[in-house]
Amino acid sequence: MRCDQTQAWTALLAHAAQFKDFDLHTAFAADAQRAEGLSQSAPHVFADLSKNHTDTATEALLIELARQTGLAAHRDAMFRGEPINNTEGRAVMHWLLRQPEGSLTGNLTAPLQQVHDTLKPMLAFAEQVRGDTHITDVVNIGIGGSDLGPQMAVLALQDFVIPGKRFHFVSNVDGHELAGVLKGLKAENTLFLIASKTFTTIETMTNARSALAWFQAQGGTDVARHFAALTTNVAAAGQMGITTTFGFWDWVGGRYSLWSAIGLPVAIAIGAKGFRELLAGAHAMDQHFQAAPLEENLPVRLGLLDVWYRNFLNCTSRSIAPYHSALRRLPAYLQQLEMESNGKRVDRIGHALPYGTSPVLWGEPGTNGQHAYFQMLHQGTDVVPLEFMAVKKPTHSLKDHHELLLANVIAQAQALMLGQADEGGHKHFPGNRPSTFLLLDELTPASLGALIALQEHRVFVSGSVWGINSFDQWGVELGKVLAKDIHARILSGQTEGLDASSAALLQRVRQG
Ligand code: F6P
Repeated sequence: MRCDQTQAWTALLAHAAQFKDFDLHTAFAADAQRAEGLSQSAPHVFADLSKNHTDTATEALLIELARQTGLAAHRDAMFRGEPINNTEGRAVMHWLLRQPEGSLTGNLTAPLQQVHDTLKPMLAFAEQVRGDTHITDVVNIGIGGSDLGPQMAVLALQDFVIPGKRFHFVSNVDGHELAGVLKGLKAENTLFLIASKTFTTIETMTNARSALAWFQAQGGTDVARHFAALTTNVAAAGQMGITTTFGFWDWVGGRYSLWSAIGLPVAIAIGAKGFRELLAGAHAMDQHFQAAPLEENLPVRLGLLDVWYRNFLNCTSRSIAPYHSALRRLPAYLQQLEMESNGKRVDRIGHALPYGTSPVLWGEPGTNGQHAYFQMLHQGTDVVPLEFMAVKKPTHSLKDHHELLLANVIAQAQALMLGQADEGGHKHFPGNRPSTFLLLDELTPASLGALIALQEHRVFVSGSVWGINSFDQWGVELGKVLAKDIHARILSGQTEGLDASSAALLQRVRQG
């Protein structure tokens, strides 16, 4: 049943009306068990949800909403390999990529075996590159899911990265990016990974062709050694002259593809063992998502909180603050995950929805954000739920830093909640601003895997309640078609049939 037609939705609307007066300070004073009661552990992740505008009654109603919208059945359909990506007629099985070998029976036995039969040569190749001292630079050419995941993970796991190799990520069709990277490279020492699920994406194809031309202009001949394609479209890679290929399947969405061949730069960076640990961490979260009761299921609780804020407390955005500099690309990665998955205005059968879906997601690592936009979070007119992420143990030995970092993240969550009532005017902090606190013991391949899988599944949960297909992305197509037309017009100068604004801009950019 559509979420806004359920009894639980109606009950939540009534419940939300009472929440106008909800005050975190009072809630903590009234319930000594609040912090403990609204916290939980999941694989590799501890979560404190107690500073949210929620209470046990809210959670119970949200769980009821999940029940009435069939969340568990939808989740189970995904894990059975049913084609829940209905607009593309595809299964959604990124989770299968982290499933241990031989652990499934029935219709998934063969696909799981294929996953491992593909993973093994990919990891063997990664080990070979790691051992090849001639290769000092690995350049990943890809965009969207074929860039953000591996880039985020290589950065996040920089303490585990093999010494002596540099990793570069080129995504933009803007030639300044590729040219800037190529400037510092030698063909004989470079491995290019052309990462594209479809092998048709114009940015990636343009950058790949330029990289090939550069390689040959530098005297490079051994394309098989210096270029590898990571794609479901091996034939298209072959047409470009790239014969070293690692494949995956149409049931892996681009923004969910880090675990597939698209993760090759990560595997080269952290090794086969590290990559398997990343997969194992994510698998542990998959198991939690599948087996934990909804009330103690962290992705479910986070996804339902997202629905609560978006549809009942009218929050249109959500901010993320990872207090770890190595997680600096995580906000960009999560932006694609949430907004490309749930930025939809119609339900699964194409009917327009009367309620809001994906919030705007944004963020920067702490403490940097504190000295930039946190002003707005503390004293702005909009309430923005914030998700803090922190890591208990540092991997450096610099004195004082980590304690200061942790002090700041706890203090910010506290300041947002408590505010400052005793000063008026400009110095007044209203407080009562909600936040979630996620804590990892250490940032390792396994904990990163679990953290990312947690985020994937929470996006699944809110998308499922909203009744949308979180696994297509038709909204990116129109721009691609129009760019092709405008590109031809930029070359020819033809403006006939264009709107006046675009025609004038086109003429202006063509002027010498
Ligand atoms: O244009 C959007 C998109 O299709 C994303 O969903 C995807 O991650 C990205 O482009 C890259 O696609 P590909 O891996 O096929 O090059």
